[in-house]
Amino acid sequence: MNAPGGPIPGGGSTATDETLRSRADGSAASPPRRDRNQQSEEQAPQRLRIEGVSVTFGALKALSDVSISVEPGHIHAIIGPNGAGKSTLFNVLSGLYSTSAGKVWLGNTELTSRRPHQITELGIGRAFQNIALPSHATVARSLMLGRHHLTRAGFLRTGLRLPSTIREQERHRARVREIAEFLGLGDLFDVEVSGLSYGDRKRVEVGRALATEPRVLLLDEPVAGMNATESSRMAGQLRAIRESLGVTILLVEHDMAMVMAIADRVTVLDFGTVIASGTPAEIQRDPDVIRAYLGSADGISKAPSDAPPTSWRDKL
Ligand SMILES: Nc1ncnc2c1ncn2[C@@H]1O[C@H](COP(=O)(O)OP(=O)(O)OP(=O)(O)O)[C@@H](O)[C@H]1O
Ligand SMILES: [Mg+2]
Repeated sequence: MNAPGGPIPGGGSTATDETLRSRADGSAASPPRRDRNQQSEEQAPQRLRIEGVSVTFGALKALSDVSISVEPGHIHAIIGPNGAGKSTLFNVLSGLYSTSAGKVWLGNTELTSRRPHQITELGIGRAFQNIALPSHATVARSLMLGRHHLTRAGFLRTGLRLPSTIREQERHRARVREIAEFLGLGDLFDVEVSGLSYGDRKRVEVGRALATEPRVLLLDEPVAGMNATESSRMAGQLRAIRESLGVTILLVEHDMAMVMAIADRVTVLDFGTVIASGTPAEIQRDPDVIRAYLGSADGISKAPSDAPPTSWRDKL
């Protein structure tokens, strides 16, 4: 594929015109391959381990002794009613909140002692529940924010417009264009985020997280505000990201049809504690989960391939 400015380095070199074009409608299953410039730092897949994590806000225990093991390459969903502690857990994983007890590990590296930018550098990328994009930035600029820690050129060199700096900027811009096209944002690349629909802004937020070249992607309600068609397109894109990049995805989502269709494992939080963990099928028939969501033990019986359990969504 040739983008403005020349052939795409890194991941783009393996993509074809056809795959990249077809990404615009979300039908393609091929996401941009991992940026080859980051491949030299590639390591063996690492398990994410959350061990006995508690977080308190004054008298409120937002998380109590939460332990979750996330297998590399899995799509692992974290579900639970409003206020269950899902975003708080993500804030711990990304270094924004400290724990009052417990630790988090990626492989042998402890994350809980590190600052947010160090955690990004270790390969944890996050898309926020509340969209965290500067409204006057374009889609391109917003995605470039995710590349900051990968940029070798400092501000001074960027200001001097050295040839090496310009080349580096072009490489990053080509990479984020590739990510934008994969997410169906190619036509909106130079449009300001403030002019986009909520669903498109959600997609940009996912793209910004993907632009960090993560090993583990934390997605906090990525399809909130999207219609069923858009949600199912995002589900296909998440599967493709996992298949092609080997990225582990931790997914917080209220859309149960999507969760049950794409998750390998599901962990259920309620009032800050883990009440169940298992495959989607196991979770759907777990009496504690049914009680937490529906207040009775007779609501979650349909398999994902059956009629989608949309009633779950209403209950959340
Ligand atoms: N910074 C904070 N200060 C005080 N309380 C907080 C803070 N962050 C979260 N909480 C509280 O912790 C609990 C868990 O909140 P959290 O945002 O993690 O829930 P959630 O599961 O993500 O909910 P939702 O599905 O509505 O997004 C809530 O009672 C919330 O009010
Ligand atoms: Mg939340």
